Amino acid sequence: MSFEEMWADLLPLGRDGTGGYHRFAWTPPELECRAWFADEARRRDLDVEHDANGNMIAWWRPADGVGGDAVLTGSHLDSVPGGGAFDGPLGVVSAFAAIDLLRKRGVRLRRPIGVAAFAEEEGARFGVACLGSRLLTGAIDPARARALTDADGRTFADVLHHAGLDPEAIGPDDGLLDRVGCFVELHVEQGRALTGPVGVAGSIVPHGRWRFGFAGEGNHAGTTGLDDRRDPMLPFAGMVLAAREAAGRNGTVATVGKVRVVPGGVNAIASSVTGWLDARGPDDASVRRTVAEVDAAARAAARPHGVAVDVAEESYTGVVEFDLALRDRLAATLGGVPVLPTGAGHDAGILSARVPTAMLFVRNPTGVSHAPAEHAEIPDCLAGVEALAAVLGDLAAG
Ligand code: GLV
Ligand code: MN
Ligand code: MN
Repeated sequence: MSFEEMWADLLPLGRDGTGGYHRFAWTPPELECRAWFADEARRRDLDVEHDANGNMIAWWRPADGVGGDAVLTGSHLDSVPGGGAFDGPLGVVSAFAAIDLLRKRGVRLRRPIGVAAFAEEEGARFGVACLGSRLLTGAIDPARARALTDADGRTFADVLHHAGLDPEAIGPDDGLLDRVGCFVELHVEQGRALTGPVGVAGSIVPHGRWRFGFAGEGNHAGTTGLDDRRDPMLPFAGMVLAAREAAGRNGTVATVGKVRVVPGGVNAIASSVTGWLDARGPDDASVRRTVAEVDAAARAAARPHGVAVDVAEESYTGVVEFDLALRDRLAATLGGVPVLPTGAGHDAGILSARVPTAMLFVRNPTGVSHAPAEHAEIPDCLAGVEALAAVLGDLAAG
């Protein structure tokens, strides 16, 4: 299976009528992606390891059976709602294609190579980004993870149980991490910063998610006078505008891209509104200041309407500086590629707390991501495969 054939097989899975993707963790389209992963592994005689946290790793082991100091690569298969085709799957498909290249060239491994597909990277179903890698590395309390719910109120524990996993077994896996010597994630670039086909990541900016709950009183839209209302939509609207202003003041970015209105009737004042704030910036202090200002503005906007506000941090990842020695080694292998920071979160950012980690980026001519227009040209994807093969060959066989 060539890169193009693998890509063509994945393309229809979870695609909606707009060309966007809905591949939420353990929903039917994502399960089809998992089955695709298992098929590609089988086709290459790679053993698939299913860890307790829903992550999958396909292993190519050296002939002498050495099991440790592995070079891990791969990415994720889940998507945001209406996401693009490339965010995640490009890293997984490229990893299989890179293994094919190394084998075609007769490379003899000294260290195992693992192709990972991490679970719930986008946090689109249960709210916490990089849930699989956070559990694996101990970056989230398993009890908290078990209790996370999706939009239908199903707990993560229940969904794991139905997927055949033991919810009580989730959590840090030092045994697995101890077998990993380094992680290299290839990913589509999510802005327009990359002018050549391939680049290397320098850092990930601090970023997090906060849930803002506004509780008012449901009532009739026609018969309730303005003075008798406790309408949570009004302070919610204030919070959205405050996020934009706070970001402008602090040199950060802040986004409210998801809102849940209960009960959601055209002719009813909402009883509650929940909005999710995503905030990112160059340093912890500017992100924290942004969130504190939005929090204060939300409370000030709620007071005159008799609306209660509840704010909870759902996830936070401080600045990630990728391993300098590994980054330099990639740059030396690839010769003269640019090093870029990114405003996007990745499993690589989470893994970097435990193992030397690096990332390769593939050019995105639209600069759009988390939307159907996300794109990479096939020649750039193939250049990414060549680059990944060079890096994996250097690390695992050099
Ligand atoms: C994931 O792609 C994120 O940056 O939120
Ligand atoms: Mn993403
Ligand atoms: Mn991604």
